[in-house]
Formats: sequence, C-alpha cells, structure tokens
Amino acid sequence: MLTIMMAASLAACAGNKETAETSAQAASAESSAEAAVSEASQGETKTESVAETGNTDQAAGSESAGEADENTDGAAVNADADGESKVLVAYFSVTSRTKGIAEYLADGLNADLYEITPEDPYTEADINYNDSSSRTSIEMNDESARPAINGTVDNMDQYDVVFLGYPIWWGKAPKIMRTFVESYDFAGKTVIPFCTSASSGIGSSASDLEALTSGAAWLEGHRFSGSDSEATVMDWAKGLNY
Ligand SMILES: Cc1cc2nc3c(=O)[nH]c(=O)nc-3n(C[C@H](O)[C@H](O)[C@H](O)COP(=O)(O)O)c2cc1C
Repeated sequence: MLTIMMAASLAACAGNKETAETSAQAASAESSAEAAVSEASQGETKTESVAETGNTDQAAGSESAGEADENTDGAAVNADADGESKVLVAYFSVTSRTKGIAEYLADGLNADLYEITPEDPYTEADINYNDSSSRTSIEMNDESARPAINGTVDNMDQYDVVFLGYPIWWGKAPKIMRTFVESYDFAGKTVIPFCTSASSGIGSSASDLEALTSGAAWLEGHRFSGSDSEATVMDWAKGLNY
C-alpha cells in the first residue's frame, strides 16, 4: 500500500510540473491516476492517493468561454434544430478534462457553450489535494464558500435545458458550482449534471446543487472519465429524455 501511495504521489508531483497539457497527455495522466486509485483504494471515493496533473491552464480553458452556436455538424438530439428547445452546456474545468466533455456535448447537441471562469483562477498550489491548507481544501471544508465567477451567461432565460459540468473534488462539486447555480433562476428549466473524476462517481454532488435551485427538473447525472470519446458522450446524451 505504501509503495502504491508513493507511486501515486510521485505521479502527482510529475504532473504538477506540466504547464500546458494536451488532451492526449491528460488522458494518459488520468489512466495512470485511475490505476493508482483503483489499486490503492479499491473503490473508495476519497482521493488522498489520486495522482492528478496540476495543470491550471485557465487561459486555454477560457478560449471557449462565450463560444456559441458554432457547432453545426448536425447530430442534434433534442436541441434547437426544431426551434423548440435551446440548450446550454455550462462547465467548470481546471485541468481541461471536463472542458473536453463539455465541448463534445455542445458540438453534438448544437448547443451553446459557457465556461464558468473563476475571478481568481486556481493555481497548481490551489488544487493540491494533499495539502490540507490549499485553497481547494479550505473551500471544500467551508459550506459557505462561494468563489466568485468572472462574467455571466448571456441571457440565461433563453435556455430550456442546461447541462452542468464540473470535476469531482473530494466526492463533491467544487464550491464555484454553488456560486453558479445560485446566480440564476433555473425555474422551468431542465438541468442535466455531468462530471469528470479520476474514479469517483457523481455521488451526491448533483443533488447538493439541485437543493440550491427551485422549480427546475433535474435529470440523473453522469460521470465521465476525462478521456471518454465524443461517441461515448453522445451515446449518453442521445439516451436522455428531455
Ligand atoms: C482538489 C481535487 C480533488 C479531487 N477529488 C477527487 C475525488 O474525490 N475523486 C476522484 O475520483 N477524483 C478527484 N479528483 C480528480 C478530478 O476529479 C479529475 O482529475 C477531473 O477529471 C478534473 O477535471 P478538470 O480537468 O475538468 O478540472 C480531484 C482533483 C482535485 C484537483
């Protein structure tokens, strides 16, 4: 066990040195992380031994903020192809894994894409889950934490369906997702949560967020690995009934 935890820590340290992570690197890093988690914790949902890259590529992530309606390749499910249902994919992502899934969804559903960008971007030190005094550790232990978001969704009222994507942090949604759901009126909308993680399921992360909204219909959420393909993501999306 000690050897496995050390290996996971080393992998995390190696990852922390990266500053620009490609999708392929992310996928590879995550498979290592998942192997470490499953060997070390055998299905536990805590992350002490999760080997995680520390990429904080907020700048790259923000490229997609505000991109809207530029996906035209057709495989719309119930999106706005019929003019009846307008779909938003809103996501938060620090190391770009959730971002990748969100982009697949927006592409496949011909939906608008919105990146939830923190006013104060998360640094590598901030997302160090091995440090109990890191920013994320402190935020996750503070029920009242609501990290500020930079910018707003343009006319949230226009959307009938909102996909909400985020990484799992200690089995939960990052507190910035609470800031987001508390910032808008979701009444009358269908909300579909999804997450990425090294190994944990979506757990209670979505119901925690649902509790902060009223009048919205929340569908069952789904967990992806950061390396799931567009086909996998769209298989899930096509099976949704909204
Ligand atoms: C602070 C922190 C806590 C994490 N906690 C968990 C966890 O509880 N379970 C898990 O499987 N993965 C955990 N991870 C790994 C992330 O969920 C995973 O790498 C995710 O895909 C990152 O998404 P992103 O690239 O969109 O930021 C954690 C990562 C960080 C930085």
